[in-house]
Amino acid sequence: MRTWAVANQKGGVGKTTTTLCLGRMLAEAGHRVLVVDLDPHASLSHAFGIAPDPAPRGTYELFTEPAASLPALARPSQVERLHVCPAQPALATLERRGATQPGLGLALARALQGASDRWDCTLLDCPPTLGLLMVNALAAADRLVAPTQTDPLALHGLRDMLRTTQMVERSRRRPLPYSVVPTLHDRRTRAGTLCLHELHETHGAAVFPGAVPVDTRLRDAAAIAGGAPLQGRGADAYREVLTWLLDSLSLHSRAA
Ligand SMILES: Nc1ncnc2c1ncn2[C@@H]1O[C@H](COP(=O)(O)OP(=O)(O)O)[C@@H](O)[C@H]1O
Ligand SMILES: [Mg+2]
Repeated sequence: MRTWAVANQKGGVGKTTTTLCLGRMLAEAGHRVLVVDLDPHASLSHAFGIAPDPAPRGTYELFTEPAASLPALARPSQVERLHVCPAQPALATLERRGATQPGLGLALARALQGASDRWDCTLLDCPPTLGLLMVNALAAADRLVAPTQTDPLALHGLRDMLRTTQMVERSRRRPLPYSVVPTLHDRRTRAGTLCLHELHETHGAAVFPGAVPVDTRLRDAAAIAGGAPLQGRGADAYREVLTWLLDSLSLHSRAA
């Protein structure tokens, strides 16, 4: 099973949109896909029409119930072959417990190991906090996919995120390759063009050669999750992102 952590410690950079689009496109290509909502704000779950009240069983239980299993907690979605493990607001309370409860940093990795033949691809939609939930995602993933808005502040966020990744790599003793996906790009602005240039200078081949443009059709997360046709410049860019990610992975495994 392929596991991608979709993470960036900055909010509003397109993590949930990236998870939704890539998850849908992978499912449409015939893969069995699981998307895990790790954000207490639960925007991914909301896009799938999962009501927050009463809180659904989902990601929180992976951390609090030793016998909980992903196949029991994930539910089918409107998209064929795509399952969702919903988030709850209570996930926010785990950040405090993580410091005192040993082993909690690997809860998600263990749950995924237990379900390794159930799905072909898992996408982990991370919260914008460098805490226990993101560390869990980075510990469990075989690739970090970092959506990055092409503005100067977002570039700083990416730098901090990669520092956290290095820390996780050291403790798990396994490399975590990363791919940067420039998002919400407005090529008419000079700041956007300069940031894109800086991303390529700094991260080279780890950066998607294009960029996902600002496209109002991508704003409707519920439509993407609901299976409405994915059309437009934004969707086209995400299709290219997916091809690029899959190609770079097969090159990677051929080299290994
Ligand atoms: N390429 C895009 N074009 C237009 N709107 C976008 C695009 N990507 C994301 N959005 C919108 O921007 C906001 C933040 O995106 P989201 O995916 O929720 O980011 P994050 O998960 O990083 O907080 C959402 O309202 C989303 O619909
Ligand atoms: Mg989000």
